[in-house]
Amino acid sequence: MSVEFEGNKACIAPEGVFIIGTYDEKGVPNAMNAAWGAQSDYGEITLFLAKHKTTDNIKHTKAFTVAFATKDTVEIADYFGVETGNNVNKIEKAACHVHKSHHVNAPIIEEFPVTLECECTSYDDNTGILVGKIVAQQA
Ligand SMILES: Cc1cc2nc3c(=O)[nH]c(=O)nc-3n(C[C@H](O)[C@H](O)[C@H](O)COP(=O)(O)O)c2cc1C
Repeated sequence: MSVEFEGNKACIAPEGVFIIGTYDEKGVPNAMNAAWGAQSDYGEITLFLAKHKTTDNIKHTKAFTVAFATKDTVEIADYFGVETGNNVNKIEKAACHVHKSHHVNAPIIEEFPVTLECECTSYDDNTGILVGKIVAQQA
């Protein structure tokens, strides 16, 4: 027998944890945590992002990186999702090391083992749908 749950907080699990790396207009790196997203074509990723420092940055640079949280990086990954780059330099506070992607204007966070380097194809403020073309990847 199945049980009906109240409310609309249903979710599809398990979810991955993507780390979205961006630069602001001054070149300061930032990172946020996103669970809602998936590969949506060969060489394409789609994420669902509300308004954040990250989306402001992407509107400016038209680029972002996507790294994958791992067991070893779980604390940093969690931190990137609970504080905003509007108030603090999260990369510095987490003592992460970054370098700029050779392909897009976005940071590669060296603590994460796999990174996709993406050009922003589109971002819709109303739906929060961000589509990125994966132009390079490194591990
Ligand atoms: C586990 C987890 C998953 C999250 N997934 C998303 C997501 O898919 N989309 C979104 O807009 N925010 C998501 N967030 C919230 C952002 O990561 C959070 O608001 C963050 O502080 C934004 O950082 P920024 O302001 O520096 O860009 C998630 C947070 C956590 C902890």
